[in-house]
Amino acid sequence: AAEEKLSQLHTVQSLEDIRIRVLGKKGELTQVLRQMGSLSAEERPVIGALANDIRTAIENSIAEKRNELLKAEREQKLKDEVIDVTMAGKRPQIGGLHPITKVLEEVKDIFLGMGFSVAEGPDVELDYYNFEALNIPKEHPARDTQDTFYISDNVVLRTQTSPIQVRVMEKSRPPIRIIAPGRVYRSDAVDATHSPVFHQVEGLVVDKGITMADLKGTLEQFLQTLYGQEAKIRLRPHHFPFTEPSAEVDVSCFVCGGKGCRVCKGEGFIELLGAGMVHPDVLRRCNIDPDVYSGFAFGMGLERIVMRRMNIDDMRLLYENDIRFLKQF
Ligand code: PHE
Repeated sequence: AAEEKLSQLHTVQSLEDIRIRVLGKKGELTQVLRQMGSLSAEERPVIGALANDIRTAIENSIAEKRNELLKAEREQKLKDEVIDVTMAGKRPQIGGLHPITKVLEEVKDIFLGMGFSVAEGPDVELDYYNFEALNIPKEHPARDTQDTFYISDNVVLRTQTSPIQVRVMEKSRPPIRIIAPGRVYRSDAVDATHSPVFHQVEGLVVDKGITMADLKGTLEQFLQTLYGQEAKIRLRPHHFPFTEPSAEVDVSCFVCGGKGCRVCKGEGFIELLGAGMVHPDVLRRCNIDPDVYSGFAFGMGLERIVMRRMNIDDMRLLYENDIRFLKQF
């Protein structure tokens, strides 16, 4: 009966079940051997020998069957795992860099090439760094123009990257040459040219004998590398509380496409940055002597540069992350 059962088995596990049922501690054959005690002295050796023979026979056929099943299972496994190398592959989806990231990398590269390094500051900023240290005290009208998000009385979401100037000047001594990119926050409604969160790139140079000519030369070099050698820049007088004198910087009209930018016909200029010579009071507050050192600073809106550079006419496209839009860059 045992032999017959074995021939019907198909897996190693069910074979093991059978082995336990027949030969195990409570198995059928073991039960038979236990009852040997009730046999007579003449019967015992005969039955004992017979039972042992049967046990050996069953053990042998189980072992044989086991090998047979293991081999079959191995073969099946190999068959299942065969790889069809001729099957068509799936093309992996590869992401790309966001246009803002791309242009920021370009901007960083240009300034790194001019010997600048990159600094950072916190998005959640003390009122002191965002305003006070930049000559914008509590009642100053310049605060109104920046629609500040207040976290508490003396903590704000930074409205500009200029507080990083102060943090850098507090920590390091001239010569200083840094740019500081980052997000800035203003309570503006969203439209084609405004967003409550946008990016600025700040620049700061402090050393002995720095003049307005250095400011103009640096920005000209930067904008011509970004927009092409024909780009002209123009400084217009302006006012910022933390620079004196201050200027707004325009670049001559240009159009950009996939391959780069070229200057428009006609005489138009486009406003791109705020800039100026670091105010002596700002230097003094950071323990830098304005009688020995001078510096210039500038700040640009990154989205504006990106939109010009990539020919994008609505700022919202930069934040919606529509893959059909992003794929074009
Ligand atoms: N922080 C100014 C702004 O947000 C720009 C600026 C930076 C002006 C540095 C002068 C110097 O408008």
